[in-house]
Amino acid sequence: MVPLPLSAPIWDAFFTVAPLVLVGTREEDGSHDLAPKHMAMPLGWQNHFGFVCHPSHATQRNAERTGAFTVSFPRPASVVQIALAAEGRQGGEKPSLDAIPVSPANVVDGVLVDDAHLWLECELDRVIDGFGGSTLIAGRVVAAAVAEGAHRASDADDAELIAAAPLLTYLAPGRFAAVGESRSFPFPVDFRR
Ligand SMILES: Cc1cc2nc3c(=O)[nH]c(=O)nc-3n(C[C@H](O)[C@H](O)[C@H](O)COP(=O)(O)O)c2cc1C
Repeated sequence: MVPLPLSAPIWDAFFTVAPLVLVGTREEDGSHDLAPKHMAMPLGWQNHFGFVCHPSHATQRNAERTGAFTVSFPRPASVVQIALAAEGRQGGEKPSLDAIPVSPANVVDGVLVDDAHLWLECELDRVIDGFGGSTLIAGRVVAAAVAEGAHRASDADDAELIAAAPLLTYLAPGRFAAVGESRSFPFPVDFRR
């Protein structure tokens, strides 16, 4: 074991696996914002979703003002556009967002990224602060849709589904992968979640 000093954040000293999503929010001027997040996950087994944010991010300000956000799970081919959405603002603008085609959300006021395989629309549940300056933004999923090619239909083979529509994975810090190869998890016979 290599002990990691806790005098600084430990997260750059190894790789961990994470999803990579684009969180969408509505700006005060009516335009939309998109920001990549890899610290993002379902919160429990019901329909809640959360992500780590920061009070200085427009995403948090917008979510708190409007009470809503969207989450798009983009395809691996969109990785360059996703990266551009993390750019700093020039005079309050994020021109890179013009390169990411979007469509209106169905239930909340927001947008969904077109080149994605899963879309969530969330109402803000709460913002929890105190994580070294970062926050956890928690939402209730009020609408969800999955691309036909990524939908787990009962007669489809899960391995083939993932192979045909690989999942974008963020290998923090600073790498990504398209995961198309998978195997069934060896659950114990009496496993209950
Ligand atoms: C690959 C990648 C993953 C990121 N993940 C997160 C994250 O999980 N949480 C976070 O607060 N910021 C994350 N960021 C940084 C924000 O996306 C970035 O600060 C963005 O400019 C914020 O935009 P906004 O001010 O429009 O909300 C990530 C950036 C990249 C490139």
